[in-house]
Amino acid sequence: MASSVNFWTIPQPKPQSSYSYSSSLKPPLTSQLSLFPNSNNSILSLRSHTSLSHSRLTKSHSPNAPPPHFMVMASTKNPEEALKIMISGAPASGKGTQCELITQKYGLVHVAAGDLLRAEVAAGSDNGRQAKEFMEKGQLVPDEIVVMMVKERLSQPDSEENGWLLDGYPRSLSQATALKKFGFEPDLFILLEVPEDILVERVIGRRLDPVTGKIYHLKYSPPETEEIAARLTQRFDDTEEKVKLRLRTHHQNVEAVLSMFKDITVKIDGNGSKEDVFAQIDGWLTKLLEQRKATSESLAA
Ligand code: AP5
Repeated sequence: MASSVNFWTIPQPKPQSSYSYSSSLKPPLTSQLSLFPNSNNSILSLRSHTSLSHSRLTKSHSPNAPPPHFMVMASTKNPEEALKIMISGAPASGKGTQCELITQKYGLVHVAAGDLLRAEVAAGSDNGRQAKEFMEKGQLVPDEIVVMMVKERLSQPDSEENGWLLDGYPRSLSQATALKKFGFEPDLFILLEVPEDILVERVIGRRLDPVTGKIYHLKYSPPETEEIAARLTQRFDDTEEKVKLRLRTHHQNVEAVLSMFKDITVKIDGNGSKEDVFAQIDGWLTKLLEQRKATSESLAA
């Protein structure tokens, strides 16, 4: 196993809204390729160069703001391995919508904890019956039900071969810990940030097409035809009352989860059009793949 790692700086992809360093932090001016002693990380991770923490990044909408630089730490992980991405955010922050776009472009297997649970509810299984009680209260479904469900889905050959896009999981420290224990290590943790009043509006207007699985919004993403409009359904937990409970659960847990993945977290402004939000995510994924390629080439050289 390699006893050293390659560090180099990369420019941030070009998102719609850029990020800049707070005044106390200056990104390095030049790209560099050098060898550093190994750390105990065993994954490829994206880190801000100066502080190794994204919490010190301040958002800027100035088009002239200098892009920050991040370094990618290559390690013992095979650079050819399929991508493993997590996406997180409050209820209705756009996780499902972005997952649709990400899977279309990158071919990852979309594993959504909420969808797995709703499938159990629809099937009327014991797990589904128990899960529904918690989902109706906007609470987390107990780990005994969720953890193995997600583990099994991630262990399927298609997830292993094509890579996965894990949506809405982990949502607690215990879930994050279990995931690591099972050996599932993500390359990137995407956090969608959207103001609360927008979230409520998105939930109330959301509709689903039971035939295609596509997500619509009556105002922001209306159905294309009358025929589709006529068959749209609404989720049982998509009411104003329930989304407030779901938001409370989200706020109670999000920091603990973030603390487990802070080295690989990118915070995305989710309050733009879905295309704008995707452009930000796409930029990060493109950079990640470019860095993997560079790692692979430098290891082969
Ligand atoms: P889950 O199904 O995961 O629900 P959620 O986290 O509340 O998220 P949503 O599915 O509501 O929203 P989303 O972020 O996917 O937004 P979407 O793209 O649809 O979980 C449901 C329940 O299951 C939980 O409450 C819990 O009980 C249980 N559960 C799930 N995971 C669990 C776990 N790990 N452990 C324990 N329990 C768990 O978009 C929303 C709407 O906005 C749509 O109408 C869309 O068209 C619109 N929209 C999206 N993006 C934009 C945009 N950029 N501009 C305008 N409109 C947009």
